[in-house]
Amino acid sequence: MEVFGVDKISYTYKDGKKALDEVSFNVREGESLTIIGTNGSGKSTLLYLLDGLLMPESGSIKIFGKDLDNGFLPEFRERISLLFQNPQVQLFLLSVWDELCFGPLQLGLNKDDIKKRSEDILKLLGIEHLRERGPWNLSSGEMKKVALGTCLSTNADVILLDEPTTGLDPRSQVELVDLIIGLQKAGKTIITATHDLGIIEDISDRTIVLGEDHRVLLEGKPWDVMEDTKALLQANLIHKHAHRHCWYVHEHSHFGEHKHEHISATTVGSLQSIVDSHEEKNLGIKEEKCFEMSDLDKLKRLLEHWVEHNVGHAKTYTEWAEKADAMGKNKLAWTLKEIADETERLNLLFNRAIEATNL
Ligand SMILES: Nc1ncnc2c1ncn2[C@@H]1O[C@H](COP(=O)(O)OP(=O)(O)O)[C@@H](O)[C@H]1O
Ligand SMILES: [Mg+2]
Repeated sequence: MEVFGVDKISYTYKDGKKALDEVSFNVREGESLTIIGTNGSGKSTLLYLLDGLLMPESGSIKIFGKDLDNGFLPEFRERISLLFQNPQVQLFLLSVWDELCFGPLQLGLNKDDIKKRSEDILKLLGIEHLRERGPWNLSSGEMKKVALGTCLSTNADVILLDEPTTGLDPRSQVELVDLIIGLQKAGKTIITATHDLGIIEDISDRTIVLGEDHRVLLEGKPWDVMEDTKALLQANLIHKHAHRHCWYVHEHSHFGEHKHEHISATTVGSLQSIVDSHEEKNLGIKEEKCFEMSDLDKLKRLLEHWVEHNVGHAKTYTEWAEKADAMGKNKLAWTLKEIADETERLNLLFNRAIEATNL
């Protein structure tokens, strides 16, 4: 079943500011759609239109097959829920608990059901400790979670999320991604407006890119959209970025997804291990250009980098060989030791190559 049928809608604010220009798309029941676009491209306006807070100046919107020209029906209000970009807009009562009970009270649920639902939401979002707090002096991340709670409290079929990750700490962002995936599994239709490109592949089946001209620039599978560097550059969602990479400088298109992780002294069971995990996600690097360096210079830096890594790796292999030995896993210990020796031997070769660059 089609939840939204949006056909060539445009919207201009009273002061003449254009927000949407002939935007068309459809959303099926149970689908998770992301709308990405730079600041001011019209994402929030689009969600307001889908939530009946604004009416399009031209074009048409069908909701559950019914034309919005006949008004935003009470049935739509029950079945569609919007998380505002700014949670302060959403919260107005004296306590978090009251906020969570408000929507279900409006729907006429009985007291026991409301209590149970609000308790479930506090638990789901990990905000039990905020129950008695006034929403006005919460941190922005806490406020966002409470606003999300009020949005979920009516158990709507369709959830519109405007910049849901903004203001959340990294762990809460991951939890939010899991929550969105869970909501979709539970059969909800979800539309998320975001410029957080790092989450769109995780949370959505389809992505619409709004351009700076307020029109649909591109629509497709999120992984295909992420590959389309040209369109993302045009939408101003990524930028060319000069970047110092420990030892050399290169230039690439930047998604904000570029991350290095060095975890040390991680506890695995009772064992202390040194884990050196080096992760680099440079999605969409179409070109990588070292500049102001000769090729020989670059190679030398690369060799030094490889040696540095190898030394760390050899140390880790030896440590684990000793642990395997302590566990009585002799063959494993012996093989790991051999790997460590080979890695050290490789270092000799790298060092020889470094010396050879000076000849
Ligand atoms: N209440 C408003 N009055 C006038 N212009 C607005 C208003 N809200 C948004 N706009 C303008 O409409 C355009 C789209 O805004 P918005 O939908 O908030 O974009 P986004 O959510 O993608 O950042 C922007 O140029 C913005 O400045
Ligand atoms: Mg917005």
